Amino acid sequence: MTRVIDGEELNIPEHVAIIMDGNGRWAKKRMMPRGMGHKKGADVVEQLCEDADDLGIRYLTVYAFSTENWKRSEEEVSGIMNILRKHLLGSIDRSVKNNMRVRVIGDKSGLAEDLQDTIRTLEEKTAHCTGLTFTIAINYGGRDELTRAARKLAQLAASGELKPEEIDEARISDSLDTAGVPDPDLLIRTSGEMRISNYMIWQLAYTEFYFTDCLWPDFNKEELIRAIRYFNGRERRFGGVKNV
Ligand code: IPE
Ligand code: IPE
Ligand code: MG
Repeated sequence: MTRVIDGEELNIPEHVAIIMDGNGRWAKKRMMPRGMGHKKGADVVEQLCEDADDLGIRYLTVYAFSTENWKRSEEEVSGIMNILRKHLLGSIDRSVKNNMRVRVIGDKSGLAEDLQDTIRTLEEKTAHCTGLTFTIAINYGGRDELTRAARKLAQLAASGELKPEEIDEARISDSLDTAGVPDPDLLIRTSGEMRISNYMIWQLAYTEFYFTDCLWPDFNKEELIRAIRYFNGRERRFGGVKNV
């Protein structure tokens, strides 16, 4: 889909994935505790969903908490979980009003019971929404997701419901938490780091990568448009040869 933005016709990526990084450094620069960076970062996400929808993006997937982030101090982890709690609970009515479908990927069984309940409610109440599909990765790791998928397929094979030769790429994609969602067209990582940090390792196979030094709490619509402009300058070949 194309949109005219500030007088320029831009091809809008259908699915944008984001590694929201730099909350801690944003807070440190301001001599504030890291938790303040997470709080501001979560506020930015709320606004960004509206901006993404406005721009015509169909799927937005953000990395909120990785399977490795448990290594952080108990104080920081519980602070992040409380922010998620508050935002997820507070977003139920707004998401329905904005026709936004919300999904959570990651190992939900590792989350507190009340958080799991909130996620279930949010997913159920927005299941019919046809606007932006907003996916939040919580206790998510690409390797963990693939491991869980392999286990599911192995169980089906062991019980005779699936033949090993029936396992193909589509079957694996359908066994992941992101089943039914197209692969990301554009990945954005903030804060200057240039690594995947275990994010959607299967789904990002042919995604364009955009890195910016902007720290996540400073991210906004202008930054998103800048990333889309970069995406428009890329030539996607998917292993083929450029048509001349
Ligand atoms: C991203 O910001 C949020 C999470 C990983 C939960 P960080 O907390 O990693 O911020 P930096 O990288 O320390 O600045
Ligand atoms: C990736 O950021 C995870 C999230 C943004 C949730 P990290 O800050 O945890 O990644 P590393 O440790 O720099 O690779
Ligand atoms: Mg970080």
